[in-house]
Amino acid sequence: MSQEYRLILKNADQPGYTTDMDCYLRHGGYGALKKALALPVKDLPDGKKMTAQEQIREDVKASGLRGRGGAGFSCGLKWSFVDRKSGKPIYLICNADESEPGTFKDRQIIYKDPHQLVEGMIISCFANDVHLAYIYIRGEMPDGARILKKALADARAKNFLGKNILGSGYDLEIYVHRGAGAYICGEETGLIESLEGKRAYPRIKPPYFPAVLGLYMCPTIVNNVETLAAVKHIVTMGSAEYAKLGTPNNTGTRIVSVSGQVKKPGYFEVEVGKATIGELIFHEKFGGGLKDGRKLKAIIPGGSSSKVFKAGEKFKLKRKGADGQMTAVEVDMLDLPYDFDSLQQAGSMSGSGAIIVVDDSTDIVSVLANLSEFYAHESCGQCTPCREGSLWMNKALHRMSHGHGRKQDADYLLNIAQNIQGRTICAFGEACAWPVLSFVNKFKDEFVAKGAADEAKNHGGAGPTNEMKIAASPRAD
Ligand SMILES: Cc1cc2nc3c(=O)[nH]c(=O)nc-3n(C[C@H](O)[C@H](O)[C@H](O)COP(=O)(O)O)c2cc1C
Ligand code: SF4
Repeated sequence: MSQEYRLILKNADQPGYTTDMDCYLRHGGYGALKKALALPVKDLPDGKKMTAQEQIREDVKASGLRGRGGAGFSCGLKWSFVDRKSGKPIYLICNADESEPGTFKDRQIIYKDPHQLVEGMIISCFANDVHLAYIYIRGEMPDGARILKKALADARAKNFLGKNILGSGYDLEIYVHRGAGAYICGEETGLIESLEGKRAYPRIKPPYFPAVLGLYMCPTIVNNVETLAAVKHIVTMGSAEYAKLGTPNNTGTRIVSVSGQVKKPGYFEVEVGKATIGELIFHEKFGGGLKDGRKLKAIIPGGSSSKVFKAGEKFKLKRKGADGQMTAVEVDMLDLPYDFDSLQQAGSMSGSGAIIVVDDSTDIVSVLANLSEFYAHESCGQCTPCREGSLWMNKALHRMSHGHGRKQDADYLLNIAQNIQGRTICAFGEACAWPVLSFVNKFKDEFVAKGAADEAKNHGGAGPTNEMKIAASPRAD
């Protein structure tokens, strides 16, 4: 049975622990920064030398740290893509937009231990030759912005920021920028546009990979809050010790947000892959199980954009046997280790680390209608399939959840979603299509039954009239 393993949230929530600099220093704060700045140049066996910056970058790669913002991409690899020869400044942006529905983990760091993020950022900036960095914080978190601004001012007063940090000759400034209040501001290229003072229209990749053409068309690193906080611990512990946490290829700890119809919604920091989905939902140390008398119906495993799992689903996962050979092992959904690779193999993703639980008291059509309303509202509107498709899906689902469903709605929704995914500028296209594809495919009988019942109720079972058939065309729907 897995326990919470608090590395990043070790001090947060402890009695007497505050966001003040003095409190952070009393708990060993800024020790990792001092260690990083004092790293001597390393002599390599081939006679070459490795700077402190290169050593930290190598360490982050060796630690196996994967981004905690959604895609789970290797942090060290991302840093290695940065164009260091362009002659332009390199920027670093901390993505603190945290707007994926169901996700409430970055704000725990910001609100309860902001210096940990600041220290992780300073080390990451130092390692990547960055002299100007930003924290892009969700507009709806004004207290978070205030706390971070104070933390930065206190860090500046102690010379952890500013000119010639701690006598090292390294200069850095970090500014807080409050977001523009849209979900798409969390997508890294939309965020960069917004930071430049424009509407958050995502940029097309290629060519606009931030590592090459990011903020002001300069090389830019965009990392999530939790990813940057983890860097501090990699420097403190060393990459080998950090990599012992978690499971192979899924190292370190992860803060998981558990919400929906559980007894104890909350956030829990666990070693990646050491806790199963079932434990995170049912164990008293985590979600505490479902409300009395209820049965599990579905879970959304990695924030609202991830594909839904149906209770009772089984998956084939590749596992290394005792003889070293890879074999396929059947695993029940609740026994899936909560890690990047297992959830991907099961056809979904751990995304932003947010599990949303749905019990059998809930109408699945209404759940999807709720999600689709969010996506229709948040589409930035640049791409026709996303702008129109998200709206059509929402209108159909709204109609269905208000007693005017049709038997053919399930196929109609699938058709629209299939024509969105893979046809858009940014991954929002998948984010709005995947819930519809997975909900409708996995609960098709419920969608069809609801449509049939509504038709019978509204038209005496005669099926839709010609007028309704015309209204069923996407444009008029
Ligand atoms: C529609 C959309 C919204 C996103 N929102 C966030 C967000 O709120 N916070 C975040 O860290 N990443 C978000 N991302 C992922 C970012 O684009 C980016 O991959 C991430 O910040 C990289 O950080 P990481 O490598 O440390 O995970 C979003 C992506 C998409 C497509
Ligand atoms: S996929 Fe949607 S959110 Fe992304 S750029 Fe296109 S319209 Fe905007």
